[in-house]
Amino acid sequence: MIDAARYGPWALIAGGSEGVGAEFAQLLAQAGLNLVLVARTTDALQRTADQCRTHGADVRTLEADLSATDACARIAAASADLEIGLLILVAGANTHSYQFLDGDLAEFQQVIDLNVSTPLALVHHYGQAMRSRRRGGIVLLGSLAGYLGSARHTVYGGVKAFTRIFAEGLWLELREHGVDVLELVLGVTRTPAMERVGLNFDAPGVIVAEPADVAREGLEWLGRGPVHVVSGNEQIVSTRSDPDRGKAVLGAHRAMQRLLQRKGITDDGGGSDRGAGAAAAPS
Ligand SMILES: NC(=O)c1ccc[n+]([C@@H]2O[C@H](COP(=O)([O-])OP(=O)(O)OC[C@H]3O[C@@H](n4cnc5c(N)ncnc54)[C@H](OP(=O)(O)O)[C@@H]3O)[C@@H](O)[C@H]2O)c1
Repeated sequence: MIDAARYGPWALIAGGSEGVGAEFAQLLAQAGLNLVLVARTTDALQRTADQCRTHGADVRTLEADLSATDACARIAAASADLEIGLLILVAGANTHSYQFLDGDLAEFQQVIDLNVSTPLALVHHYGQAMRSRRRGGIVLLGSLAGYLGSARHTVYGGVKAFTRIFAEGLWLELREHGVDVLELVLGVTRTPAMERVGLNFDAPGVIVAEPADVAREGLEWLGRGPVHVVSGNEQIVSTRSDPDRGKAVLGAHRAMQRLLQRKGITDDGGGSDRGAGAAAAPS
């Protein structure tokens, strides 16, 4: 159980309305923390907030698009009177799943803003206060996609690789100031977001985690950073970290193509956000 005296009295979850974010919220409410939940969709936000209130938590919700340039300023204003002791950055996605030269640069920039620019601004803002108080925690969500380049994930894979390196450096800088930093690396996780894009959870060889287990594991590892790979995905990370990068990248690519062929799906290499690669590929 997480220590409310160390990480409270308020936790802020960027992407706290459903899936892994909602499960973090439930666990933190049960542990006695109050919550600020940020996401775009009102209904899901309210549903999760109401569930957390049943555990006695004070909950504040904010509808905001985390890829917008004013996202951090809006969140900071909405929480200016609160002591945020735990920042959990859940929201992230490959919102533009195209081969790089066929995609739209402005859309790729949105992927960078959601996964990098806004998280950096939020960490900068709330991390300073945590460092002054000499306590707190910061959790960033990573992906297996951040260990290896893959088609239609050029930018998304890149931002997730950035997340890991950023988390490691931040962990080093803050550990002497009493602030814990953890990058929690997810494999395929049965979230509503992934269900909506049609991810094939039944593809052979795919290890699927449940959001509640992922959140529980994340809180268990907070304080033991800088990086924790969700259980069951260790071998994938090891294979993807092979120093022979051509072997690693081509090996994973060919395995994915075999998987798609077995399912009778052709990867046309262009594609939409709901393309074949997105439908079957572990992210
Ligand atoms: N699920 C997987 O298989 C998987 C695998 C590897 C890594 N990951 C990583 O894990 C994290 C969570 O993944 P997930 O999306 O599958 O699960 P999730 O826990 O369901 O997270 C999505 C949350 O973020 C919010 N969100 C998404 N885009 C947003 C935006 N632009 N502005 C504000 N809020 C936004 C969603 O609410 P709204 O949509 O209402 O805004 C929701 O609350 C991401 O960082 C993802 O890259 C997931």
